[in-house]
Parts: sequence; C-alpha cells; structure tokens
Amino acid sequence: MRIAIANDHTAKDLKDAVVAHLKEKNITDVKDFSPQREEGIEYPDYALSVSKAIAAGEHDLGLLLCGTGAGMSIAANKVKGIRAVACSEPYTARLTRQHNNTQILCIGARVVGIELAKMIVDEFLSAEFEGGRHQVRVEKIMSFEKL
Ligand code: RB5
Repeated sequence: MRIAIANDHTAKDLKDAVVAHLKEKNITDVKDFSPQREEGIEYPDYALSVSKAIAAGEHDLGLLLCGTGAGMSIAANKVKGIRAVACSEPYTARLTRQHNNTQILCIGARVVGIELAKMIVDEFLSAEFEGGRHQVRVEKIMSFEKL
C-alpha cells in the first residue's frame, strides 16, 4: 500500500506518531510531502501536493493532518478526482472507504488524541470500497465536477 502523508505546523507530532504506527504495521511505502520546518506550514499547499499525487495514481491513499482536519479536507476536495473526509472517530473512517471510496483521510491534531488517531487510520486503511449501489452514488457525486 502506497501512502502519501502531510501535516501542517499543528500536526507534526501526530504525523510522526502515525508514520511510526504505519511502520509497525509494515506499511513502509510512505511519502511525506510536508517540509522539514515546523513553523509556517500552509496546509493548502500540502493538501494540494498530496491530492495531486493521489489523483495521478502515484499513491493509493493519503493522510492529511492539520489542526481540525477541516482545512485539509476542504482543500483536497478541490482537486479533480479527489474525495477527502475529515474524521474524528473510527466508524466514519471505515464507512467512508466502504461507501464513499474516499482516497484521503484528514485528522485534526487539536481534536483527536494520538491513540484514537491510530485507530481511525487503521479503520481507513483496512476498509475497502464496496462498489455496487455505492459506485452509482460516487459517480453521481463526481459528475458534479462538471457543473
Ligand atoms: C492552523 O491554525 C489551522 O487553521 C489549521 O491547522 C487547520 O485546522 C485548518 O483547518
């Protein structure tokens, strides 16, 4: 599984914890798009980098971490072909893969503790899109990009 990840200045500790967690689970193909510095990281820039890479098929799933998850998800959803969701509990993380075929999970480091964030990530990464009636709905949503 190829993962793209990025954080802003609020979520460096969460990013480090998530990357370490992925490594423990033998998920090692993880590209970190965020800069090394810890200040002045403008979340739209990194939401864009990750979203473009996912849309181009360079990575399978993306993780975007900011203060609330909201800004990252709003920015990511502006990129053609991307379905991103801000999530603060595991149930939605699973269902949004199964039903919405989201490719990007956004988590708020100021909202969710690290252990809960790991559970949310695990649910997101282990769930699979169910297709069928959900495929029809996702296609309907994506047709809105032409409006
Ligand atoms: C940064 O202060 C904050 O706005 C950002 O991390 C994020 O929560 C935006 O949605």
